[in-house]
Amino acid sequence: MSRVIAHLSRRYSFSASHRLHVDALSEEENRAIFGKCNNPFGHGHGYGVQVTLSGPVDPATGMVANLADLDRFARQEVVERFDHKNLNTLEAFRDRVTTTENLCLEIWSIFSQFIESVDHPQLKLERVHVEETGNNSFDYFGESGPGRQD
Ligand code: NI
Repeated sequence: MSRVIAHLSRRYSFSASHRLHVDALSEEENRAIFGKCNNPFGHGHGYGVQVTLSGPVDPATGMVANLADLDRFARQEVVERFDHKNLNTLEAFRDRVTTTENLCLEIWSIFSQFIESVDHPQLKLERVHVEETGNNSFDYFGESGPGRQD
């Protein structure tokens, strides 16, 4: 097996709306915690998602993973799932606030399925990066990644 490991990153984008709100809290508490993001009518973002995979460079193809396969998966499972949706109405957020932290975790679990679907034991999901605005972005590196607290 090749020991030359490279990282591959690919960017996708979609537009979606959300409202930050915890049902168990009062209107006043929600407003105090989430401010204008608790506006009952919601608001939209143009989200950017960057996914990073790592793995050996296949000596035959010269690639870490097939980008066409990754794109097809991302289009179906990420972009179509979230684009022009109200995140608050999706099953994935039934019990979770639609923060971009939680969106980042959800997208990580979706791309984990891509890794499982590829017959390639050394291919790893390294990072999911989600941009909410030009000033906000969120990263998840998996359970064993940096920032983990025991
Ligand atoms: Ni927002």
